[in-house]
Amino acid sequence: MLPKVYVTRRLPAIAFQELQAACSVDIWDREVPPPYETLLEAVRDKEGLLCLLTDRIDSNLMDAAPGLRVISQCAVGYDNVDVAAASARSIRVGNTPGVLTDATADFAFTLMLSAARRVVEAADFVRQGRWETWGLTLLLGQSAWGATLGIIGFGRIGQALARRARGFDMKILYYDLNRNPGAEAELGATWLPLDELLSQADFVSIHTNLTPQMRGLVGEAALRRMKPNAVLVNTARGPIVDSQALYRALSEGWIAAAALDVTDPEPLPVEHPLLSLPNCLVVPHIASATVASRTRMAQMAVRNLVAGVRRQPLPFPIN
Ligand code: GLV
Repeated sequence: MLPKVYVTRRLPAIAFQELQAACSVDIWDREVPPPYETLLEAVRDKEGLLCLLTDRIDSNLMDAAPGLRVISQCAVGYDNVDVAAASARSIRVGNTPGVLTDATADFAFTLMLSAARRVVEAADFVRQGRWETWGLTLLLGQSAWGATLGIIGFGRIGQALARRARGFDMKILYYDLNRNPGAEAELGATWLPLDELLSQADFVSIHTNLTPQMRGLVGEAALRRMKPNAVLVNTARGPIVDSQALYRALSEGWIAAAALDVTDPEPLPVEHPLLSLPNCLVVPHIASATVASRTRMAQMAVRNLVAGVRRQPLPFPIN
């Protein structure tokens, strides 16, 4: 008999076929996440779970699934999974690193330029019929060429962003808990304490995991250190930035603009104050959303799941 697994969202066909060949699959076939209670019920008799970052996978859920061997997260970030609780129960956890690095770095760079040059605001301006003439001071933005970029979190994606920034002749600063002399030499990047990075950078882009230490890292004190021309980009996790402090920073001109692929809360309700600001560009957590990246993420997640239910080492393990 094939091992029973639960999948919390539809997968690209190629990955799903691979999964169906190896497992008996029960799937939540909707666009929105399964409610927690539904998930709790669904995992009771399962050996494997393939989940997304929108699913809360806690110790309570693990206890509801006594036969669970593997949790396969279809994402690189896994702050929604209690990995320590999984380890304590000998449940393997895997994720999908690497295959979304370039898509995410491309998108962070896209957001940097879009916010700096007010692209969405300008397009809205035209659609609203407000374009009357060429204006010397119309929709002025911030320059990117030769500017200083501060990268918070210098892992795979942070370094991939630095690679792109070199093509724009940017000065690259980074802050990370671990210094990386190899990457510094390769990318011409300079490590600085966070406060100094914030006060020097024209662009600040966030690429850390969400850990308790990183929650609220970019709050009022950090935002007040930034330059008035600075652009903040977050493609990591929403709670790293304090949304209320960001609202004040953007509405009171402490910084020039922000572009957020991730928000706190997420999704951001349409009546949220940040959405009333022309200098805050918000998109719905799509940095890795290319056909190629998402397909490869799903395939990696399936491989982790299948290995886990077969009691084999996961190809992409976390614990
Ligand atoms: C997306 O946010 C991911 O962590 O893969």
